[in-house]
Amino acid sequence: MTHDQPLRIEIATPSRPYPVLVGAGSLTRVGTALDEAGLGPSQFVVSSPTVWGFWGESFHEAQPEAAPIIVPDGERHKTPGGVSRIYDALLKGGADRSAALVTFGGGVIGDMGGFAAATYMRGIRLAHVPTTLLAQVDAAIGGKVGVNLPGGKNLVGAFYQPSVVVIDPGVLSTLPRREFRAGLYEVIKYGVACDASLFEQVSRELGPLTRRDPAALVPVIAACCRVKGAIVAGDEREAGGRRVLNFGHTVGHALEAGTKYRRLLHGESVGYGMLAACALASARGALASSDRDTIAGAIAQLGPLPPVNDLSAAAQLEFMRHDKKVHEGRLHFVLPTGIGASQIVTDVSEAELLRALRDLGLRE
Ligand SMILES: NC(=O)c1ccc[n+]([C@@H]2O[C@H](COP(=O)([O-])OP(=O)(O)OC[C@H]3O[C@@H](n4cnc5c(N)ncnc54)[C@H](O)[C@@H]3O)[C@@H](O)[C@H]2O)c1
Ligand SMILES: [Zn+2]
Repeated sequence: MTHDQPLRIEIATPSRPYPVLVGAGSLTRVGTALDEAGLGPSQFVVSSPTVWGFWGESFHEAQPEAAPIIVPDGERHKTPGGVSRIYDALLKGGADRSAALVTFGGGVIGDMGGFAAATYMRGIRLAHVPTTLLAQVDAAIGGKVGVNLPGGKNLVGAFYQPSVVVIDPGVLSTLPRREFRAGLYEVIKYGVACDASLFEQVSRELGPLTRRDPAALVPVIAACCRVKGAIVAGDEREAGGRRVLNFGHTVGHALEAGTKYRRLLHGESVGYGMLAACALASARGALASSDRDTIAGAIAQLGPLPPVNDLSAAAQLEFMRHDKKVHEGRLHFVLPTGIGASQIVTDVSEAELLRALRDLGLRE
């Protein structure tokens, strides 16, 4: 593994500017990065048994002072109860308002630990060290933290920016293959919705990327962080521009809910969601069929998605009616208009949606 200087991306959110450091081997220097970000001497690291089992020793070597708080991850543990366990451990460890919390795990640990940091004693300093591809390109950037309630995903949360994000693609070597691929769908999302050169880079380097070669991963992860950072800086609280990041997520969320969060990983559902959005855009004449084929080809190259042809299109439509992306009764839909360009529309009819779902293979 090389130990070059990490790439540094500045995220200029109005509430707090902070750097994202992306580099192979940056885990070995995480202690320095956290100290330089001003986290102070009282640090706690929230991680999961899986992540800590693989990488805890490396983390501990680089930052021996951070006291570990190990909580189970996985979507079903992203609950107020999970956060409560973190509060208890902070209290027991003597954390006061000068303490800092470092999340070291996937998006579940980041969202849950981030919410604990946002709320413990009305907010303590926070840093993210994401360990899944999805968390490195998405969840760790932008300050959304929170947990699920029995009534739905991410229903309780806050906007709370970290002081620094440290990304080492080396930790992805232990990620299950399917989890890794799921993150690549989100990478493709950024490319299609906002950045044609990123899309081309991913298509060109899919081989080294899927082999998880850090040399290929570093620039791609950094490009995603730059895209998300720029969008979030312009719209920290998702009033407008940030919505473009929901590309593929309207249909995606419905399919996730429609399969009770058991069949599809989040990224896989976004894969389907992007295909549906492309079908819809192309049926309207907003997306050239050659672009649609290129995007569908890139998604297909990542391998087969779990089947959804047993699901009913009408039932999925029902899930979309309850989506958070419904504003004043209108469903906001991100449609690609080319590779690297998209628009938000509010006039998608149910008939169009049904047709796009049928296009994915769903039944009546
Ligand atoms: N805050 C945001 O803006 C934002 C954005 C996107 C997603 N999210 C949230 O992120 C969550 C999904 O995150 P995720 O996909 O990272 O899932 P996850 O955190 O559940 O991690 C997936 C699995 O990978 C394991 N794992 C993590 N790192 C590993 C490593 N390096 N090696 C081996 N195994 C490892 C975990 O133990 C877990 O079993 C969802 O709850 C979603 O709502 C948040
Ligand atoms: Zn997503």
